[in-house]
Amino acid sequence: MIIRCMKIEDYDEIFDMWQITSRRALDSADSRENISRYLTRNPGMSMVAVADGKIVGTVLAGHDGRVGFIHHMAVHPDYRRKHIGKMLAGEAMNRIAADGIEKMQIYCYIDNAMGQSFWNSLGFNKTDNILFYKDLK
Ligand SMILES: CC(C)(COP(=O)(O)OP(=O)(O)OC[C@H]1O[C@@H](n2cnc3c(N)ncnc32)[C@H](O)[C@@H]1OP(=O)(O)O)[C@@H](O)C(=O)NCCC(=O)NCCS
Repeated sequence: MIIRCMKIEDYDEIFDMWQITSRRALDSADSRENISRYLTRNPGMSMVAVADGKIVGTVLAGHDGRVGFIHHMAVHPDYRRKHIGKMLAGEAMNRIAADGIEKMQIYCYIDNAMGQSFWNSLGFNKTDNILFYKDLK
């Protein structure tokens, strides 16, 4: 298994995997154009895990100049509980920290116990903030 930077050329393979791992979290924000823009705005921070010749894990990572964010933290079901997620998130956070960022924020569905256990295991604490949402068109 190797971990390397995500490239826009990975998009089709990643998007196929997200249909399995992250379907509920996918929306129009995840178009090829938007992911391309995200990777350009946050160079070298989003990672993929490759095993057996295919992408088996993703982390979309970046920062806004003051706080780091991770989206689409996902590992294919056949490859879970091997610390691939932990390695992906760790690599992304090292790269965000190297850019001078000191805090991370993660969005996780309130009923995603697996996601919450994962983030807890990486030292994240749940907050009592509520996420507000609005479409701009
Ligand atoms: C969450 C996810 C990315 C974890 O990937 P992973 O590679 O299996 O996780 P790791 O092996 O690195 O797990 C690290 C630690 O997280 C915790 N953890 C991971 N999966 C867990 C589960 N199903 N139940 C309880 N704890 C879990 C454990 O503490 C684990 O350490 P351990 O195996 O030594 O006990 C993966 O389950 C996934 O893709 N889930 C669907 C998408 C999702 O919900 N993503 C998170 C969005 S907020």
